[in-house]
Amino acid sequence: MPCLLVVDDEQGVRESLRMLFKGDCEVATAASVAEAREFLQQTKPDLILLDLVMPGASGLELLAELSEQVDPPPVAVLTATKTIATAVEAMRHGALDYITKPFEVEALRIKVHQLLDHRALEAEVVWLRAEVDDRERLGNLLGQSLVMKHLFHTITRVAASHTTVLIRGESGTGKELVAKAIHDLSDRSDQAMVTVNCAAIPDNLIESELFGHERGAFTDAKDRRIGKFEAASGGTLFLDEIGELGFGVQAKLLRALQEHQIDRVGGSETIGVDVRVVTATNRDLETDVAEGRFRADLFYRINVVPIEVPPLIERRDDIRTLAEHFLAQSSSRAGRDPAKLARETISALESYPWPGNVRELENAIEHAVALAEGDVLLPDDLPPAIVRGSGVEVLRDSIRSGQLGFDEAVSDFERTILTEALERADWNQTRAAEKLRITRRSLKLKMDRHKITPPT
Ligand SMILES: Nc1ncnc2c1ncn2[C@@H]1O[C@H](COP(=O)(O)OP(=O)(O)OP(=O)(O)O)[C@@H](O)[C@H]1O
Ligand SMILES: [Mg+2]
Repeated sequence: MPCLLVVDDEQGVRESLRMLFKGDCEVATAASVAEAREFLQQTKPDLILLDLVMPGASGLELLAELSEQVDPPPVAVLTATKTIATAVEAMRHGALDYITKPFEVEALRIKVHQLLDHRALEAEVVWLRAEVDDRERLGNLLGQSLVMKHLFHTITRVAASHTTVLIRGESGTGKELVAKAIHDLSDRSDQAMVTVNCAAIPDNLIESELFGHERGAFTDAKDRRIGKFEAASGGTLFLDEIGELGFGVQAKLLRALQEHQIDRVGGSETIGVDVRVVTATNRDLETDVAEGRFRADLFYRINVVPIEVPPLIERRDDIRTLAEHFLAQSSSRAGRDPAKLARETISALESYPWPGNVRELENAIEHAVALAEGDVLLPDDLPPAIVRGSGVEVLRDSIRSGQLGFDEAVSDFERTILTEALERADWNQTRAAEKLRITRRSLKLKMDRHKITPPT
């Protein structure tokens, strides 16, 4: 458990902070700078919350002393709103952050967790970064685009901490794989990851699904049943589609997250649970909060570390790698030798907008493998919407929108037709020329002009 030192001359502040972080941190308190110095000689806390104005030595003095040390513990200063100028001064002296009094409990909790995580992460990050940098996958997540590498970093860092995570992204972007990667890279990986799809369970059953129920708690409760929270004990609970959770259960979930305690439905004892909760949604939760469908306090609690999985259209560099991966998978499932992607197929895939993201790509490849006759996947093997949404349609759109001029568009179109014909003819130029009803010589000239060469 991280160690938090609270330095404040007001007993009320010390006590309320102790209560607030009980269970999450080991909380030590000091009523003066002198007491703090004494404590610091014995122990190095992970974070100090430091009041500035105190009788005797001031917080700023302690801050100055700390800044002389090698690798001092991080400090966040506590300050009344009216002395905010002093807080700024403190930041200049090396304080990491400041917190104004009176504090908004939830905001304070989040801030402290962020500061603590920041601390825990820094140490891990240094060597993990080196590991991740030249990898093209993290667990089952493939990606070589910059945005994905960035995501791999975030996942690795977050996995090392214990905070609640909210994974956001459009449908089919890989949120579930991200959740799995977080679990697999965490120190809970030897325990289970239990998944609950909040959208799939009717409102009246979800509470018992999450927290369990005692025998006779309701009509169908023939036996006592433990819920997913208890089932995930020691491990990770993945709450997918959290935005679909009913308002009533949201309050109970908040309690479980905050106090690490649950009540079974119809039960009388409170049960402590040690669970790391990872959530995901493709909804715009801010809007749900604004419109009263999602509790603001729960939102803040789960949104401590938000992870954004980018839509496929923002990482075109990954399309080919992903397509080849799915191709190998589908081929082996179909008991065939892995097929190859024709060059035109790749460009069709790369120019399609993929509203259904990686899942749509996976399905498209599966479709193509089922239809393909040879061992090369041609654009025509893809679902029609994709071919239509790329190639000629895209050209036409680019002309309409003024992105391409007439000459460029015609030239692009020529190039597409030639390459496609060559691919179909297995790069036999005589056969391709026949199909196009031009001479072989004319084909060769055009190929030169467009710099079209057979794949090597
Ligand atoms: N980066 C990736 N590398 C390899 N496979 C991926 C990647 N991203 C997604 N997939 C695959 O795409 C499919 C969809 O991914 P996943 O189920 O994780 O999406 P999701 O974001 O949870 O979607 P939804 O919001 O619809 O639940 C899965 O089969 C998954 O294995
Ligand atoms: Mg999902």
